[in-house]
Amino acid sequence: MAQRGFTVWLTGLSGAGKSTLSVPIAQELRRRGLQVEILDGDEVRTNLSKGLGFSKEDRDTNIKRIGYVCKLLTRNGVVAISAAISPYREIRDHNRREIGHFIEVYVQCSLEALTKRDVKGLYKKALAGEIPHFTGVSDPYEPPLQPEILIDSERLSVDESVRKILDYLEQHDWIPRA
Ligand code: ADX
Repeated sequence: MAQRGFTVWLTGLSGAGKSTLSVPIAQELRRRGLQVEILDGDEVRTNLSKGLGFSKEDRDTNIKRIGYVCKLLTRNGVVAISAAISPYREIRDHNRREIGHFIEVYVQCSLEALTKRDVKGLYKKALAGEIPHFTGVSDPYEPPLQPEILIDSERLSVDESVRKILDYLEQHDWIPRA
């Protein structure tokens, strides 16, 4: 039987761990014989969404484009994994309706922890007022109200988080049990 496509939609603040989780999830699904594509916000912004900024309008365009690609992949039996902040609930829900086979994963992390980690050094700049409209600092982030999966990335390790997501996918028959 051909594999059933679906989209794993990771959402959360910059630095919460979306990209970090997307890689081992993809790896494990490929190991199990599934075809997988990752759509990473940082990468999409260098090609498909090149030239877009961080206004609400541009973010909505970016997220709808990613959603559109996920829809094409999903309906062709591929597992699409999106790793972009996707701060607006309305657009995520739009993608959910369009894609259908949609698993929303909220990668949650407090601003305090993100500021401490600050891998890219962006929070320091944003808090100093040097980056206007920075998500979570000076721009909104609307958390999912009923995500399929909630990952507390402050308390869970990467391995534990990946395990939690794979368990969900197995339990809901998106993927065969290992
Ligand atoms: S989204 O809002 O359109 O979903 P996306 O995930 O593509 O955002 O890009 C977020 C990345 O862009 C962040 O991880 C960060 O490295 C960078 N970035 C630059 N400016 C901003 C900003 N104003 N707000 C959030 N992220 C920003």
